[in-house]
Amino acid sequence: MLDRNKITIRTLFDKVSKGKPISWLTCYDYPTAHFQEQAGIDMILVGDSLGMTMLGYDTTLPVTMNDMIRHTQAVRRGAPTAFLVGDMPYMSYQPSNETAIRNAGRFMAEADCDSIKLEGGGEMADRIQAIANAGIPAMGHLGLTPQSVSALGGYRVQGRGALQAKKIIDDAKTLENAGAFSILLEMVPDRVTKIITERAEDCIIMSLGSGPHAHGQLLIYHDMFGLYPKFKPRMAKVFGNAGEILLKGLTQYVEEVTDKTFPQPENWFTIKDEDYDQLLELL
Ligand code: KIV
Repeated sequence: MLDRNKITIRTLFDKVSKGKPISWLTCYDYPTAHFQEQAGIDMILVGDSLGMTMLGYDTTLPVTMNDMIRHTQAVRRGAPTAFLVGDMPYMSYQPSNETAIRNAGRFMAEADCDSIKLEGGGEMADRIQAIANAGIPAMGHLGLTPQSVSALGGYRVQGRGALQAKKIIDDAKTLENAGAFSILLEMVPDRVTKIITERAEDCIIMSLGSGPHAHGQLLIYHDMFGLYPKFKPRMAKVFGNAGEILLKGLTQYVEEVTDKTFPQPENWFTIKDEDYDQLLELL
């Protein structure tokens, strides 16, 4: 078993000050959390991407707070020391500061999270400030923000034009000033990420497909292992094809049940002869 102290916000800032990159993955269930923890992952995001990767929706929009809490609790049971980020689902923070604080609080109280993440630029500064003021570490999310996929016109790189890039840079500073301890940049051009990271004073900048100049990297677990059948984003590196291994094993299982080569004696349990004889007498 992995022997390490709990990863806290201080551990993360310490890594940043020493120039050590932070590793971060999405996770939605107990066994995967166990393996990620054993691998020594620094941070885990229970993303509302679980709506797509685990529940099969086409977008993240139908995900509820109860979905998030259930999966986040399971992840915490598998990864007791990783820094755990709960992802605020659609409409769990947009309506008001009060809604945002209440739901952020649920992640902390019910699922033992270390922080929450919410999507949006300067217009969400108020929410970040309210949550941070309630004593909950809050992370921003800029660039491609999947909850706004309709308004953004699809899953595409953000900030390629100078004006759009400037807006992301300004938004990052606004969120940092509002109290965000960290900001995730998703699908933002590498040189824009570099500017944001260099300008961050007290804020950890994380990258998902946004280049090497951030303080750390995030990947979607299902993209890393060929576990999402609908598509693989260009930014994702495949570290192993678990989907292929699973499909091979499952096909073999169906074949073996069909041709009666499964089960074999080591796969079932027996009853002693004397107990069996007694049973027959009882029947
Ligand atoms: O829900 C999620 O996994 C996310 C990532 C896409 C960053 O928010």
